[in-house]
Amino acid sequence: MNFYTQNNKGVLMYKDTEYLEFLWPMRHYLLSCGRYDVNEETDADIVAVSFCMPVSKQPPLIGCAIGKDFYSNELIKKHKEFIINVPEQKLIKEIYYCGFHSGRDVDKFKETGLTAFKARQVQVPGIKECIAFIECRLVNVFDTGDKDLFIGEVVESYAAEKALQDKKDIVFASGDFPKKVYGNRFTS
Ligand SMILES: Cc1cc2nc3c(=O)[nH]c(=O)nc-3n(C[C@H](O)[C@H](O)[C@H](O)COP(=O)(O)O)c2cc1C
Repeated sequence: MNFYTQNNKGVLMYKDTEYLEFLWPMRHYLLSCGRYDVNEETDADIVAVSFCMPVSKQPPLIGCAIGKDFYSNELIKKHKEFIINVPEQKLIKEIYYCGFHSGRDVDKFKETGLTAFKARQVQVPGIKECIAFIECRLVNVFDTGDKDLFIGEVVESYAAEKALQDKKDIVFASGDFPKKVYGNRFTS
């Protein structure tokens, strides 16, 4: 008998949960990667990411875990740069589009109507409709399982003035997301 799982009447106090259940809600980001030029054949892609977090302050590093087979994974390895674009909740349709389609099959800039802009330090395009941008250069890749953990050094970080005035605008998280929308895809 495990003491810690029962109260003094022997009633079970804990139930098993899927391990991600209590890590939610997580923020959703739009990670852009690859190259974009309206006049040329280019390989830019946008992938929805939630497995994304700061992993060091000095140097400033961000870690993003991305599926091994994903087109974005291939592009980050190729060009060694990416941008974390912070969307507002009103971009939810575009977030899901970028999270349920592969850049191998579709041009996500074209299909979502999101607008590419020239970033400050990296060659990757930023997404104009987003309100904050973290430009990163790849410094390390770790094989973590079904994903690779990309570690990017932050080389630029900037936001729309309106986002800085009212930070509530930039908070986007969806607690129901994993169960209702995504099913078991994160763990399968
Ligand atoms: C809101 C949301 C968040 C997601 N977060 C991640 C994530 O952190 N890591 C990951 O590997 N896939 C994540 N995905 C799934 C990818 O975005 C999805 O598989 C995408 O189609 C891959 O596109 P690509 O082949 O163009 O790279 C997420 C999907 C959604 C809708």
